[in-house]
Order: sequence, then C-alpha cells, then structure tokens
Amino acid sequence: MAGLVQGKIALVTGGGSGIGRATSLALAKEGAKVAVSDIVVAGGEETVRMITAAGGEATFIKADVAKAAEVEALINKVVATYGRLDCAFNNAGIEGVMTSTTECSEENFDRTLAVNLKGVWLCLKHEIPQMLKQGGGAIVNTASVAGLVGFQGLAAYVASKHGVNGLTKTAALEYAKQGIRVNAVCPCVIHTPMLDRLFSSQPGAGETIAALEPVGRLGKPEEIAAAVVWLCSDAASFVTGLPMAVDGGLIAQ
Ligand SMILES: NC(=O)c1ccc[n+]([C@@H]2O[C@H](COP(=O)([O-])OP(=O)(O)OC[C@H]3O[C@@H](n4cnc5c(N)ncnc54)[C@H](O)[C@@H]3O)[C@@H](O)[C@H]2O)c1
Repeated sequence: MAGLVQGKIALVTGGGSGIGRATSLALAKEGAKVAVSDIVVAGGEETVRMITAAGGEATFIKADVAKAAEVEALINKVVATYGRLDCAFNNAGIEGVMTSTTECSEENFDRTLAVNLKGVWLCLKHEIPQMLKQGGGAIVNTASVAGLVGFQGLAAYVASKHGVNGLTKTAALEYAKQGIRVNAVCPCVIHTPMLDRLFSSQPGAGETIAALEPVGRLGKPEEIAAAVVWLCSDAASFVTGLPMAVDGGLIAQ
C-alpha cells in the first residue's frame, strides 16, 4: 500500500535527535526520501543509518540553520541530490537558558532567536523559491505551545516560538494561491534529549509537568511525527496557516 508521502522528497532540520529523528523515520516509513540535516554530524548520520536499516532512503547534510549561507547550501544540496523538494520540516531548535524577562542575557536572547526564529525564516526563504518552481509543496515549522501562550521564566524561548507562528501564518497567506501550504506544530512537553537537559538539574520536574497534562503523561516524539507527516501529506490539502497544538489537551485548559 502506498504511504502517506509516497515518492515525495522531504527535508528535516534538527533531524539528528528527538522530534526531528522520529519525524525523519516516520516520513521515510510513509514513503518519502529524506534529507536529514543537523548541526551535529553524529546524530544526523545515526538517523540516516536507522532509516536505511529499516529499508528507507535518506542522506545526511550538515547545516547550522542560524547561518544564511549554510541554509542556502543545504537547500541547493537537497535539490542537487533528489531533483526537488516537496516537504520541509523546519524543526531545529534550542531551549536556551531558562530565565525571566529581566534576567535573560543579551547573548541568550540573541542565540535563542537566531536558531529558533531566524533559522525557520532562513529555511522558508530558500525552500519557498524551489517549491514555487515546482508548482507547490508543504512546509511544517516546529513552534511550541510556548508559541501560543506565555510561560514564566522562558522569555527568549517563548518570544522565538510566537515568532515562528507569526512567520507560519504570514508565509501561508503569501503563497496559498501558488500551492504551497505552511503550517506549524505546537508540541507541549515531549520526552526528548532537550527535555532531559532542561530537567537534569531538577529531579521530578518531568513528573510534575506530566501531572499538569490533561492526559496525565508527557508526549512522545512519535506523536509529533504523526502530525507532521499528516500535515506534509496530500490528506491535509485544505490545511494552511495552522499552528496545530499537539499537546495532550494542555492549552485547552
Ligand atoms: N521536547 C519538547 O518538549 C518540545 C516542546 C515544544 C517544542 N519543541 C521544539 O521541537 C524541536 C525539536 O526539539 P527536541 O525536543 O527534539 O530537541 P533535541 O535537542 O532532541 O533536538 C534538536 C535538534 O536540533 C539540532 N540543532 C540545534 N541547533 C541547531 C542549529 N543551529 N542548526 C541545526 N540543527 C540544530 C540539535 O543538534 C538536535 O539534533 C525544537 O524546535 C524545540 O524547540 C520541543
């Protein structure tokens, strides 16, 4: 049976870990050829190895999404390798340092915005012209529930993720008539290496947060991947400009 994204060419940034790895694997399982990109070579290459071991097709391309020249080279390499770009998951992101608005350093604010927000914009800037040449495509950006509501003590991160949702809606409107759909996923707390880093100094924090979730548990990377694959697929052909919460009901409260 044909997969949801059978025969499509997909790019995943931050594909070497967590949500990006799970989504790379899910896209490949549903029939896409996947360009896995990450700033960390070992993680990205491991994702490619996992896809290949499962019978899929993938290539690793190193890029720092915060650097314009590297993002431009990344999209060029995807097109040189596979001839086109049908689906892009702009997912690379960092947690930065958890601080309040007044305690946030300029360095933390700049780096968090550079990776999480400018990185998504640079990807859109270079992916969209390729999709216009082909007559369409589907893009999903990783925002967060922190892109929908405020969270105390996460000033730079919340600012960056609200920005991602703004960019998503704007690009969706700009290219809707040209067959390019642009959506965002807004995960809540998902058990990934990012979460382990955030809570390494606070034993029990994960359980405390899980208890606040209406579903009573943390999310899994595979549960975000499933939403991204669907948004990338033709099954979502009438969906664009959506910041989709995949959050176990967190922001319904
Ligand atoms: N885990 C959560 O609870 C959660 C919740 C909401 C949103 N998110 C978002 O999901 C995305 C993925 O997070 P994750 O939890 O899988 O984290 P992760 O740390 O497991 O994975 C992030 C990946 O991005 C890569 N990366 C970091 N900076 C990069 C850069 N400048 N250029 C290219 N790659 C870079 C890392 O090397 C890593 O492989 C992020 O945008 C994050 O903000 C995560």
